[in-house]
Amino acid sequence: MEPVRAVKGMNDVLPGESARWARVEAAFRRTAALYGFREVRTPIVEPTPLFVRAVGEGTDIVEKEMYSFRHHDEDLTLRPEGTAGAARAYVEHHIHTQEPVTRWYYLGPMFRGERPARGRYRQFSQAGAEIFGDPGPGCDAEMIDMLASFLKAIGVPDVEVLVNSIGAGDTRARFREALLGFFEPKRAALSEESQRRLETNPLRILDSKDPRDQAACEGAPAILDLLGDDDKKHFDGLRRLLDALGIAHRIEPKLVRGLDYYTRTIFEMKGAKQKLGAGDTLIGGGRYDGMVEDLGGPKVPALGFAAGLDRLLIAAEPTGAETTVDAFIAPLGDAATAPALVMARALRERGIAVEADTRGSSLKALLRRANALGARLVLIIGDAELARDVVTLKDLAGHAQEDVPRDRAVAIVADRLAASGAIHREET
Ligand code: HAM
Repeated sequence: MEPVRAVKGMNDVLPGESARWARVEAAFRRTAALYGFREVRTPIVEPTPLFVRAVGEGTDIVEKEMYSFRHHDEDLTLRPEGTAGAARAYVEHHIHTQEPVTRWYYLGPMFRGERPARGRYRQFSQAGAEIFGDPGPGCDAEMIDMLASFLKAIGVPDVEVLVNSIGAGDTRARFREALLGFFEPKRAALSEESQRRLETNPLRILDSKDPRDQAACEGAPAILDLLGDDDKKHFDGLRRLLDALGIAHRIEPKLVRGLDYYTRTIFEMKGAKQKLGAGDTLIGGGRYDGMVEDLGGPKVPALGFAAGLDRLLIAAEPTGAETTVDAFIAPLGDAATAPALVMARALRERGIAVEADTRGSSLKALLRRANALGARLVLIIGDAELARDVVTLKDLAGHAQEDVPRDRAVAIVADRLAASGAIHREET
């Protein structure tokens, strides 16, 4: 029979990899907590109009990438990103009446029907954060600072910080007009996609990867030249604060981002480029001061980012060999199974991760398995050990082997592991 395969662009994370995922997620949670963010968990399915309104009709996401379906007369969509859902929850639960500033973070799967490639998937995971209620630029700078320390914590080399400002509503409108005036006479030189963008979203022509568009962009108006006084003050303030924090950054005037909700600050972070290829943007974010109001809430400024975890996993330095368990129990023969399980439970009660392998394999096969799991100590219980009421304790690091009394084995193992600092603990 034909085997059933996973959906294209949607990946399994098998146990060999999941420990690395857990470590990066734990590092993100730790960093977010240090900066005062608390976790929000919103649904994976939201009403389709939420994304049409918040992300924008002319965006690639809404035009062609959403997994949308109709269910019992409701138009629903698997979330393509987390900001719209967070803002919806913020409005729906009247959070602004409870606190002046809200700092939320989230982790979880997102869905976009993009063409799959290395680092670009149809189900991917984001770690994101949003701040509601702070007009910046202090929190804009602090957010970038938090991201720089997160990337450092997980060992992403060659980090680049790109910043730009696209101004508030009226600047954007002026910029749109200026771009239309610039590109209209060159229409025929643009890619088909960008000719369409002239109608829907001319800003996106600037970050097109098509060489025809890139050539046509030579000499295009720069949004930074069109910023209003307040926008400019905000952007200069951000840059000064980044300098004060010692965060090297580059102004990227062509940075526009693919979502329509941005106002003022936008930024992206890249790193480990040679490992990633085309999809080398690890983190994207920016300010979206109009979204809360557009979704029916009060006028509350907001700012956020999302990091692509799949890409971070590719970019981060690999850590040492995985340790699945600290101790391994090798019962030899049926009579040893019960004492092995009792001892395994006693060790776990002391916080020691244990595998008791009761398959009835040979000692050689059991030791191979213990090594593969990264166990430090192996407890062997065979007929000879049972007869003498001892356990053979084997240290896989030092290769020493000795008999220890069965009733003292748990305490001895716990002491040895504590002394060697080898106790395996999941990071929380
Ligand atoms: P975004 O730039 O669309 O922004 O996505 C953020 C990050 O998610 C990207 O830099 C990338 O690392 C990852 N990502 C996006 N699409 C894929 C994909 N198909 N496969 C793998 N990784 C992907 C947002 O989503 C905004 N919600 C960020 C934000 C939060 N802005 C304000 N608040």
